[in-house]
Amino acid sequence: MYTLITGATGLVGRYLLRDLLLNGHQLAVVVRGSRRMDPEARIEQIMQYWEREHQRSLPRPVVIEGDISQPGFGISEEGRDWISRNVNRIIHSAAILEFFGKDREAEPWRTNYHGTRHMLDLCRETGIRDLHYVSTAYVCGLHDGIVQEDSLERGQTFRNDYEESKYEAEKLVRAADFAEHITVYRPAVICGDSRTGYTNTYHGLFVYLRLMAMLIPSLPKGPEGLRVTPIRLKFTGREPRNLIPVDWVSAVMTRVFENPDARDLTYHMAPDNPITSRQLIDLCSEYFETTGVMYEGDPLPEAWDESLTEDQRMFDRLFQDNADTYAAYESTDPKFDMTNTKRFAGDIICPELDRTVLHRFIDYGNEDRWGKRRPEWTKPQIRVGDLLRSRIVAAEESSQQIGINVLGQGGVQATLVIADAGILSVSPGLSDSVPVLTVTHEDLLAVLSGQKPAADLSSLWDQCSAEQAAVLTDKLVAACGESDAIRA
Ligand SMILES: NC(=O)c1ccc[n+]([C@@H]2O[C@H](COP(=O)([O-])OP(=O)(O)OC[C@H]3O[C@@H](n4cnc5c(N)ncnc54)[C@H](OP(=O)(O)O)[C@@H]3O)[C@@H](O)[C@H]2O)c1
Repeated sequence: MYTLITGATGLVGRYLLRDLLLNGHQLAVVVRGSRRMDPEARIEQIMQYWEREHQRSLPRPVVIEGDISQPGFGISEEGRDWISRNVNRIIHSAAILEFFGKDREAEPWRTNYHGTRHMLDLCRETGIRDLHYVSTAYVCGLHDGIVQEDSLERGQTFRNDYEESKYEAEKLVRAADFAEHITVYRPAVICGDSRTGYTNTYHGLFVYLRLMAMLIPSLPKGPEGLRVTPIRLKFTGREPRNLIPVDWVSAVMTRVFENPDARDLTYHMAPDNPITSRQLIDLCSEYFETTGVMYEGDPLPEAWDESLTEDQRMFDRLFQDNADTYAAYESTDPKFDMTNTKRFAGDIICPELDRTVLHRFIDYGNEDRWGKRRPEWTKPQIRVGDLLRSRIVAAEESSQQIGINVLGQGGVQATLVIADAGILSVSPGLSDSVPVLTVTHEDLLAVLSGQKPAADLSSLWDQCSAEQAAVLTDKLVAACGESDAIRA
C-alpha cells in the first residue's frame, strides 16, 4: 500500500520524500502545478536533486495533481479511486507559513485550517485511517515554562494568526473519530540541512541571514578590518532559540512513522541545547566581520545617534523592519518537553547549530543567491509513464498484469495490463503480487532502443520465474516498440 504525502515540494516534505523512498516506502504525493511546471515536473526536479546528492537512481512517487485548499483537494475522480484502492496512510505536511490574516476564509486559514479539514474529509471518504499530521510546537502560543507533548487546549493566546490556524487545525485532527491512528509531529523552528546548508525556502533564521548577506558587504570596513553595524536589538541576547535542522526533523519523523508502536502520540522536535540569540549573532558577526550590535540593557555610547553614517542608519532601519515579522519569537521561546521523541528517536541526535553549521547556511544562501538561482535539472526527454500510455492498444485476448518501477530521470511506478497485441492499460503505482520489473531509466531506454539486448532486463523481475521473466520482457519490449524518440 502507498502513503500519501502533502507538501512534498516544501522543505520538510522533500526530505521526507527522500528518506522514505531511500527506506523503500511506496509513496504518492499531492502536488499543484506552479506557474512554469506541471506537478510531475516539480517532483522530477526534486528527485533529480536527491539523485545528484546520493549518486544513485531513485524510484519516483506517484504524482497526483491537487490543491489542498479545495474540497477533496480538487483531485479527479480517477485519482480519488486510485487513493481508495491503494493508500492506507497519509502524512499531511502542506501548510502556508504566512503569519498574519484574520479573515478565516483567506490565508493562512484557507490552507492550514480548511486544507486540514479537506484532508480529513478525503481520508474519511477514501478509507485512510492512519494519519500523520505535521503541526508546530507553537500551537502552545504564548506560554511560560515547559510545554508538554500531550497538552493543547490551555486557553492560550497566540503570537500570530499562523499559530492559531495551526492550533485550530490540530484540534480538528485530534477530533477525527474515523481514524484508527493519529500521530502528531510538532517541530520548533526549522532551518536548513546541517550537513549541506541546503534550504529551498528562506523563512525564519534565513530571513536574517539573507538580510545580512545583502546589506553588510556593501558597508566599508573600518581601520580594524571590521564593518560597524550599529543595530540596537530589543532583546537581551540570552534568549534561547529553538532552531532545528531539517535533516534531523525528517530523520526523527521517518523513525516514528516506521514504528507501529510509536503511533498515536505527539512528538515535540526541539534542540537539546538551544543556541542563544547572542551566540547566533556572534557567529554571524564573525562570518561577516562586523561589530556594533547592542542588546537591550547595553548602555548607548555617547552621542550615538549623531555618530551614525547614513548607510549605518539605513542598515539599522532595514534590519528592524525585516525583523518585525519574527519579533514575537525573540523575547519568548518556550521549553518543549520531548519525552516521546526521546523514547522513540532519542539516539538520533539533533545537530547543534555551531559555527560550522551556521556558516554553512550562509555559504549555501550565497551560492543559491538566496533563492534566485534556478534549480539544476534536466527535463526528461522521455517520461516512461507517457511512453507507456502512448502505446496502449485495444484488444480482447488473454492478458496479464505487470508492474514497472523505473528509477531515475523520467521514471515511473505503474501497473500495466499487457497482452500479445501490446499494452492494454496503464495505471499509477505498483500492485501487490504481480511481477515487477525494477530498472533504471537508462537501462530501459537502452534496451528499447536496441543498444542492449532484451535479455539484460530478464534478471530484474521480482515475483516471477526466470522463464516468465524472459517472456514478459519480450512482451514489454515488443509492446513499447521502437520509435525515433527512444532512439534519439
Ligand atoms: N518551517 C518551519 O519552521 C516549521 C516549523 C514548525 C512546523 N512547520 C510545519 O511543517 C510543515 C512543513 O513546513 P515547510 O517548512 O516544509 O513549509 P514550506 O517549505 O513552505 O512548504 C509548504 C508545502 O505546502 C504546500 N502547499 C501549500 N499550500 C498548498 C495547496 N493549496 N495545495 C497543495 N500544496 C500546498 C506547498 O506547495 P507549493 O510548493 O505548491 O507551494 C509546499 O509543498 C507545515 O505543516 C508547517 O506548518 C514548519
